[in-house]
Amino acid sequence: MNKPVQLHLFNSIPESIQNTQSKTIEERAGTFTDNMKLPIHRWFRYSAGFSAAWVEKVITELKPQTILDPFAGSGTVCVAADKLGINSYGIEAHPFVYRLAQGKFAWSVQIHEFLAAVNEIKSLAVSLQQEIPDNIPVLLTKCYTNEALVDLFKIKQAYLEIAPSLSEELQSIIFLAICAILRPSSHVGTAQWQYILPNKRKAKTCEPFIALENQVAMMQEDMYQMQFVSRSSQAIFIKEDARHLTSIPDNSIDLVITSPPYANNYDYADATRLEMTFWGEVNSWSDLHETVRKFLIRSSSQHVSKERLSLDTLMAESIISPIRDELLPICQEIETIRGTKSGNKAYHTMIAAYFTDMGFVFNALRRVATSDAKICVVIGDSAPYGVYVPVEQWLGKLAISAGFNSWSFEHIRQRNIKWKNRKHSVPLHEGRLWIEG
Ligand SMILES: C[S@@+](CC[C@H](N)C(=O)[O-])C[C@H]1O[C@@H](n2cnc3c(N)ncnc32)[C@H](O)[C@@H]1O
Repeated sequence: MNKPVQLHLFNSIPESIQNTQSKTIEERAGTFTDNMKLPIHRWFRYSAGFSAAWVEKVITELKPQTILDPFAGSGTVCVAADKLGINSYGIEAHPFVYRLAQGKFAWSVQIHEFLAAVNEIKSLAVSLQQEIPDNIPVLLTKCYTNEALVDLFKIKQAYLEIAPSLSEELQSIIFLAICAILRPSSHVGTAQWQYILPNKRKAKTCEPFIALENQVAMMQEDMYQMQFVSRSSQAIFIKEDARHLTSIPDNSIDLVITSPPYANNYDYADATRLEMTFWGEVNSWSDLHETVRKFLIRSSSQHVSKERLSLDTLMAESIISPIRDELLPICQEIETIRGTKSGNKAYHTMIAAYFTDMGFVFNALRRVATSDAKICVVIGDSAPYGVYVPVEQWLGKLAISAGFNSWSFEHIRQRNIKWKNRKHSVPLHEGRLWIEG
């Protein structure tokens, strides 16, 4: 078995990145907050992204030829690469998030064509006689007043009628603009790209047509800015599985920057439920598995419960052999505690399945990465039912087993958000797993 070589932090990462002066960028590298002020990035907010300023900093220091983000989400890495004129690939398996991110990479369309198409949609929308259809999903009636819902359906109907006459890029960018107004138009607790809280009331709600006008004005401003520095997007954004990276050529990537799902039960399928419900792609929570979740890394208990996985079968996977001896007792301990809990969540198989999936991701990365590539994985650890899971260590071992040379972990911050409510006090952290070679 390969022995992991744990290097001192940043053994061969440039010193200026190690000793950065920019404390703020460093501390917030795991969040999306700062991106909401940045052109293009702010077109829609997405959970668990990282700061684009930090990504730009890494790219500027390491000067890669081609960057890959195998868990690209809203495309933070690829937009940052576009700004710096660097080739990039973004891989995203969530069909709806992929579609949204594609809208961002249409930033180079002619601005006057974008505005003309939006105006055509708005004019048609206001002229439509729209009634709220019978049997609309409860989520929509909980999130919107009748007036807001009528306007949103008018905008949707006008978009669907006009979209076939538009280029694919215009369709994508306008689809994104309409998605981006759904949460501001709701009067209930719709934190951006998070779960919906129908019982909470928002202080400020925006009427849909005004929200669209504001969104389009902001996008127009950003397009001017981006088009001033670059002519067209160099990002190739693909709907695909990070466990295979089928479309990425061998030995073609010299820098990977990514933040995969954490093993913390966050359900990415649920994160876009409101938007997917509005477009008629799902009707209820139970539709999410077939339409989204089954394509993703198994990082939530809903996912593994649906697949009815057994711990024995998961443990037999050869991909987890480098960590099996440590993984098995942890999963068994979680399973024992599960028996004492009313929630009965399958965290034991979630953890086993998570590391199996991530093992395949590192194998795929080994194939596409050059021999001197650098891989930066923004990751946090986990403690389901209060049992500590040393995530970065096990990911590091899986990376070495896949054929990489070394790993080191750079701590960014403490965290204990998800599990706090479940009455455990295991300290958790978040940081960057750097893998090399
Ligand atoms: C932490 S988010 C990444 C956010 C991203 N850094 C951004 O800028 O928005 C993780 C992403 O991985 C995606 N994902 C999960 N499983 C995947 C898989 N098997 N292949 C590709 N993407 C996957 C999720 O849908 C989610 O968008």
